[in-house]
Parts: sequence; C-alpha cells; structure tokens
Amino acid sequence: MNSATAKSQRSRGVIENYREFLPVSGSTPIVSLGEGNTPLIFCPQLSKRIGHGCEVFVKNEGVNPTGSFKDRGVTVAVSKALERGASALICASTGNTSASAAAYAARAGIPCVVILPAGKIATGKLLQAFAYGAKIVAIDSNFDDALRIVRDLGDSGDFAIVNSINPDRIAGQKTAAYEIVDEAGDAPDFHLLPVGNAGNITAYWAGYQEYHARKRSTKSPAMIGFQAAGAAPIFYNRIIEKPETIASAIRIGNPASWKHAHVAIAESNGRIDVVSDEAILAAQSWLARHEGIFVEPASAAPIAGLFKCCDSSEAVYSFQKIPEASRIVCTVTGHGLKDPDVIIQRMQELKPVRSTVNDVRRAIGM
Ligand code: F0G
Repeated sequence: MNSATAKSQRSRGVIENYREFLPVSGSTPIVSLGEGNTPLIFCPQLSKRIGHGCEVFVKNEGVNPTGSFKDRGVTVAVSKALERGASALICASTGNTSASAAAYAARAGIPCVVILPAGKIATGKLLQAFAYGAKIVAIDSNFDDALRIVRDLGDSGDFAIVNSINPDRIAGQKTAAYEIVDEAGDAPDFHLLPVGNAGNITAYWAGYQEYHARKRSTKSPAMIGFQAAGAAPIFYNRIIEKPETIASAIRIGNPASWKHAHVAIAESNGRIDVVSDEAILAAQSWLARHEGIFVEPASAAPIAGLFKCCDSSEAVYSFQKIPEASRIVCTVTGHGLKDPDVIIQRMQELKPVRSTVNDVRRAIGM
C-alpha cells in the first residue's frame, strides 16, 4: 500500500476535505491526525422524547483523534503556525484544547506549553497532555487568568497561541457545520451546543452562514447555546469572577468570544440558556443509557438543554410548540472517558461475589 495516497475521506482530515473553505495554500505544511468526519447519529429515543415528529441527531465530536472537537481547529492553527515559522505553541485550557494542542505539536515536532487551572482539569485530559509530552504549567487560579497570561506570552513573540482567539482555530471548527449539511442534505432547524469560551458557537454559525451564502443549504439553524448555571456569564450578562460547575470544560467566567456569541445568537434568532449541574449529570447518564453515547459532562449540557426546552416553563426557548418534523442537531463535544471522576465513585459499589453460578445469578438480580 502506498501510504502517501491511501487516504480515505475519514483519514484525510478537515483541511484536505474542506481546503477551499480554509486559510491554507499549497505551501502550508499540513499537520493532521485524521480529524473530523465524525458521525451524525440519529437518536430515536431523544426524538421520541421531543415528539411532534421531530428528528434529533447527535454530532459526536468525542470520536476525534484526541476525543474532542478541538482537533478541527487545532489542525488548522498548528499548520498555519508552522507555515509562519513558529517554534513553539502555547494555550490556556480547561483540558481539551491542551490535549489537542499537545498532540498536534508532537506531530509537528515542536514544543507545546499548556497553562491550566490547578486541580480543575479532568483526569483523562491532563493525562493526555502528559502523554503527548506538553510542558505543563498549573496556576493557582482559573481559566480566565490562564488565558490572560497566554495572551501576554503570545504577544512577546516566543509562542504561537492556539486558543480560539486565534482565527485559524475558528476556521477549522467551521468544518463541523459543513459536514452536517453535507451529510443531512441541508442545515437543521435548531442547533444546540455547550458554550464556554464561545468559540464553537461562533464557528458553527460562521460555517452555516458560509454554506448558505454558497447555496449549499436552504436555511440556517437557530443556534441555542447552553452554559452551566454556575458559569453563565453570557446568560447573566456579567463576568463571573469565580465560575463553578461539575462540567469543568466550560468553567469559564469571561468568554473570549462573548461578542461573537451574541452575534450568532441574534442573527440566527437563537438563545442562550443555563442548565444545572444536576441536570447535566442526569443528561449524561440518560444519553449513555438510552442512545449508547457516552460524553463528558460539558457535552451533556445541550442534552440537558434539550430536555429543558421540552419540559420546563423556565426554558428561554420552548419546544412545546416546535414546528412538526423539525430537525435538531446537538453537538456533543468531548468523549466521556476524558472525565471519569464522577462515575468512578459509583464503581466503588462493585463488590466481588463467590465464583459460583448461583452467587452470580443472585448478584445479577434479574
Ligand atoms: N465542550 C467541551 C468538551 C469543551 O472542552 C469546551 C471548551 C466547550 C464545550 C466549549 O466550547 O469554549 O468554544 O465555547 N473547552 C476549552 C478548552 C475552553 O480549553 O478545552 P467553547
């Protein structure tokens, strides 16, 4: 097999698949791990839960190379950084960006510095940063301070920043919207996703608009973003000094793309809403048990949000009168194995029984 040419659409990565939409040229050195082309999964149980003949799909970004949607943007950011002659990368992160940046830096053969809030990174994500050989610095503060420091260090010219304040990141992340339209034949009516630093909602909206402008879709969806109730600066319209939530990926009090998120929500006639930690964990469990899709807590926010839109009179956007046969896409952004901490507690209930058929039958209890 010729390894240079044996590339399926899956392993080509988002730059090769959407080159004409991305800020790359023939001389850009492409750093890819075969990201993108993630499944758009029809969810019968979720659809039944909504009713009205609606179809709900989950865009499962957890199956990207490092287990989150970040890979789409990081492949572009790292490729462009190399093209500009960068010798080192830097990012602040709640976990997934650092895992992704560390992997693509390793692939590119350049060092990567990651600045993280100490004690606030899910185990699997921190483990990834170590595995890929990043230079890890933990600060005794939160993500917002980490990003402030990264901006300063980036300005010094020693590092290329690969956070979503880098437009190359947003460009790469738009490809998720393209894929949805390409696969479903048109844009959905509603798109639900979690919001932290607000780069992803910005990117999706840009991608949908671009496809619409090029007549590849007939419409654009209402963008409905969900923040965790304890870390909801956009919803409350004020900086949250000490954001708190079990969904550590979106524990952000001062989103960098705040203004862009406002534009996406306003232009798409969408909304921003909040979901509680309890609702997030319940939705995480529900999705795993009813649809077989295991996501990290932040990624369960739009599922919790979907339930809120259906059930709660407090929902900012009610689905109780949703037009018949609407199509809804929920992006689940990261894999469940990245953040095992809550579920590990449940595993401690597992006690060994005697190795006889009768004992095992009794333990099964059904
Ligand atoms: N979901 C997951 C799993 C994330 O890791 C993030 C952001 C988001 C949602 C929110 O996306 O910031 O574009 O609104 N994680 C960043 C990080 C902040 O450092 O990994 P956003």
